[in-house]
Amino acid sequence: MPIQQLPDHLINQIAAGEVIDRPSSIVKELLENCIDAGATRIDVELEAGGIRLIKIRDNGCGISADELPIALRRHATSKIASLDDLTAVLTMGFRGEALSSIAAVSRMSIVSLPAEQDHAVEVSFDSATGELDTRPASHAIGTTVTVADLFFNVPARRKFLKTEKTEFNHIEAAVRKIALSAWHVGFTLSHNGKQVLNLPVVGDVQRELIETGGEGRIKGVLGAEFLENALYFSRDADDLRLSGWAAKATFSRSQADMQYFYVNSRMVRDKTITHAVKHAYSDLLYHSRQPAYVLYLEMNPREVDVNVHPGKLEVRFRDGRRIHGFVSRAVSEALAVVPLDDQSQNGDEATHATAGSHQAASVESSPAYPPHQTPIAFDVNEGAGRSDRSGFQYSAPDRGSVSQRGDLYRELVGSKTKDVNAAQAATVPEAASHSEFPPLGFAVAHIHGAFILSQSRDGLVMVDAHAAHERISYERLKDEYDNGSIRAQPLLLPLSVHVSEAEAELAEQHSEMFLKVGLQIDRRGLAQIVVRSIPVELQSADVEKLLRDVLSDIAENGYSFRIREEINKLLSTMACHGSVRANRPLTVTEMNALLRDMERTQNSGQCNHGRPTWVELSVKQLDGLFLRGR
Ligand SMILES: Nc1ncnc2c1ncn2[C@@H]1O[C@H](COP(=O)(O)OP(=O)(O)OP(=O)(O)O)[C@@H](O)[C@H]1O
Ligand SMILES: [Mg+2]
Repeated sequence: MPIQQLPDHLINQIAAGEVIDRPSSIVKELLENCIDAGATRIDVELEAGGIRLIKIRDNGCGISADELPIALRRHATSKIASLDDLTAVLTMGFRGEALSSIAAVSRMSIVSLPAEQDHAVEVSFDSATGELDTRPASHAIGTTVTVADLFFNVPARRKFLKTEKTEFNHIEAAVRKIALSAWHVGFTLSHNGKQVLNLPVVGDVQRELIETGGEGRIKGVLGAEFLENALYFSRDADDLRLSGWAAKATFSRSQADMQYFYVNSRMVRDKTITHAVKHAYSDLLYHSRQPAYVLYLEMNPREVDVNVHPGKLEVRFRDGRRIHGFVSRAVSEALAVVPLDDQSQNGDEATHATAGSHQAASVESSPAYPPHQTPIAFDVNEGAGRSDRSGFQYSAPDRGSVSQRGDLYRELVGSKTKDVNAAQAATVPEAASHSEFPPLGFAVAHIHGAFILSQSRDGLVMVDAHAAHERISYERLKDEYDNGSIRAQPLLLPLSVHVSEAEAELAEQHSEMFLKVGLQIDRRGLAQIVVRSIPVELQSADVEKLLRDVLSDIAENGYSFRIREEINKLLSTMACHGSVRANRPLTVTEMNALLRDMERTQNSGQCNHGRPTWVELSVKQLDGLFLRGR
């Protein structure tokens, strides 16, 4: 084929590929235009997930009749005129591409009336011929852009669109993101004639923050639950300011689906930022959990490059390290205000804390010792104390036998703690001969509430009890699911859970699937669901949290495909949340039962995340550690 200049409409269609990949990207671009035009009210109407129709009306400055045709051309913008403007840009748009891209892949028309013009004018664009049709129209001051039949002329791309529901969900998410960046704008969103979102203007942001904690907008977008669990803060340093809401670690999620970060009002997904925030949560959050936040970074626009991504979703900081440090510190400090008890109850550690407090309670009843100290007393200064070169004080432990010390312990703390202590006092059955040792041995102790020590035939086995239990539960749930035998346990008091509307929708759509795994869920009202039964296996799990996680998993991954994969994922999440947590004291019988279960369960050597569940040190390796036999 000879080299030839491509026709304009084809150039535009190709260029559109970068900016417009689905209806939600159109909505994002159009909303940004409205905000740049100074609108204080924006109404979004959709049909068929935005594929058939997107209509966005604003009360912004409008576009004059003679500029309308220009606005539709590529690289036509009123927002920058020079490179210098670009380096300090504060408007959402600046590339002059959105309208021409949208026009190239749909049937688009614009009606607009600027204040200084008598009558509104409508232009519609024919993407095949590039011709514009202009006629008088009626419209209040502002602009309405109508985009119909997306990708009607690019069938290949149309095929990539998902169901109307999925596309709608993406649009709704886009509207929420933008609504959080523009509090001074009122938004409505309706789909197929039904209003789904109504976010009134927040006239005075400071006042709303002070008087209601930002309730209106944050609650409208993220739900009351988020607000209840989040802390508002604001920190300044030189020319930087970070403010917003960071949710307590308790409110952690399994997906990064509640992370909103704005740089000078532009929502961005940036590695530096994501890492900085995660870093701030790192001491509080189990590493697979995701924090929830809405944060606003204000900074000198010259210090951040916004022109690095066609969809303007990424930015580049001139001094990334400084931003990282500032954000991470600001969030850490904000979180430090949360009482310790609250913090430890996060995500996977939620049950830690509960279990931990049981433990604390039982040890509290002992007169003299805080839970973390060994109750077996020996004075470090007594006996054969000596300093080595590092200045470390070493003293030989009391030579008394284990049982003597056990007696001493009981005497000191009284008999109330007998049960807790029972786990520590376990011994290997005396009769066990070599051949009778099961592969993972006999449990002797549960240490730090997390690990089982077991004497095996050849040495010492250490087991991560939670990881092992999780794997076993997962395999069992899978088996039961395959055999259709998951047993549901009706709840005496149905559990009602407040969720977002989208989540309630998902729960409703997937009620069959939930039922198959023992969860009977009904929708009650717009944003509430009721759990009527749970799988027997999960009686002690935090069902509410489990449900939220599963819903956010489904929302994130789409839901109309590979149901079995979802189910496995769901089972895996269920197993994870239903499993023994660190800090829950296990009795010897429980520990041995777990070891035997592990021996029977396939894949039990690895937890669901691929980490090992147990390791063994042979007697030989132990000898080596103590330099024996040298
Ligand atoms: N809703 C609107 N109200 C007023 N003017 C608008 C509106 N939408 C677009 N315009 C005008 O049309 C021009 C072109 O819009 P377009 O979205 O294509 O480019 P842009 O916003 O300048 O840059 P970008 O491609 O980065 O979005 C804008 O610069 C603006 O002047
Ligand atoms: Mg634009």
